[in-house]
Amino acid sequence: MTIKQHIETELVFDGDDNHDPYGAVVPPVYQNSLFTFDSWEALEQAFADKENSVIYTRGNNPSVQYTENKLALLAGGEKAKLFSSGMAAVSAGILHFLSQGDHLITVSNIYGPTATLIRDMLIPKMGVEVTYVTGHCLDEIMEAIRPNTKLIYLESPSSVVFSLQDIAQISLLAKAHNINTMIDNTWATPLYQKPLALGIDLEMHSCTKYLGGHSDIISGVLIGSQSLINKISMKEYELLGATSSPNDASMLLRSLRTLPIRMERHQQSAMRIANFLNDHEKIAEVFYPGLSSFTQSSLAAQQMTGYSGLFSFKLQTDNLVLIKRFFNALTLFQKGVSWGGHESLIYAPAISCSVEQTPEHMKRMGLSFSNMRVSIGLENVDDLIADLTQALAKIE
Ligand SMILES: Cc1ncc(COP(=O)(O)O)c(C=O)c1O
Repeated sequence: MTIKQHIETELVFDGDDNHDPYGAVVPPVYQNSLFTFDSWEALEQAFADKENSVIYTRGNNPSVQYTENKLALLAGGEKAKLFSSGMAAVSAGILHFLSQGDHLITVSNIYGPTATLIRDMLIPKMGVEVTYVTGHCLDEIMEAIRPNTKLIYLESPSSVVFSLQDIAQISLLAKAHNINTMIDNTWATPLYQKPLALGIDLEMHSCTKYLGGHSDIISGVLIGSQSLINKISMKEYELLGATSSPNDASMLLRSLRTLPIRMERHQQSAMRIANFLNDHEKIAEVFYPGLSSFTQSSLAAQQMTGYSGLFSFKLQTDNLVLIKRFFNALTLFQKGVSWGGHESLIYAPAISCSVEQTPEHMKRMGLSFSNMRVSIGLENVDDLIADLTQALAKIE
């Protein structure tokens, strides 16, 4: 009898090697830069299938491949390629699709360093043309299409104001115009949003966030069809060299086994805290796709099966002294960038955005110092609410 396996079971069993001679429950880490062969013929055979062969770790490594297999399975993609960071995956994907003089359509609220990559490298060095859209309306994207449009790059939900794009509709439009599509799917994780099934060509994640989940690795992945991933592996992956280390890949493999249970807790606690803040007199607005009051809540429910633990809210006050007083009064919420780990974090995105981006970009994002971003960790939710309560009481 074959037992139907659900994703939680598959994440425990599938993808990694189950044929260890010692019955090791966790595969060993292949901490090797190169792999040797018995003969000239064996080397020739390996090079004939270079996309899959284990020859040199800048190309492939068994520990990295196990994790790639599990990530592909999780996202419902044919193949995955693991990078040394999320930004390495973003850059490799975008560079794969764009050549000199091509046109790119993307959303205003993309992750800051992705916007910087476009502004400081793609535009000045490759003459890439860019159109920013809100992503809220299909007509807006249709109007932006030019004869040289080669890529539509999405981030849904985006990681500061959590605005969504209709992934299925945009994919259809892109296909009709022979335009490639790529999405940063980090927020929802491949567990709760399946962009490849909605027609997207290339899915990207910063595995530094929920997929890693313990704030101890930097990692990124691209997932797509076998032919697309093979092409990226032979060019942008191997030649730019932002390879995943076997050790990081093995830590990520560990984390993937607990992803469903961690995500369940992250979203449960986030929903409670988002509702608490939504009802609080000192909060102007909460941006959490899981809330029924969220402007795009029906699109969120339509294209995601769950929510994560990262959201933002706007304080009523725009008095910087009071904002800092609230921020500094928090004791359980640690203050720092990034998200998706076991620990709860608070950050004001305007701190880095005001230094790294232009005032126009900040305006396009609708960002001010009153915007707070929180990553809800795995602590007890009542403790976290108590911490927010006492810190909000400092605003007076
Ligand atoms: C939405 C999003 N995409 C991409 C990245 C880049 O990932 P990494 O820091 O792993 O390079 C981040 C990092 O914060 C992110 O938040």
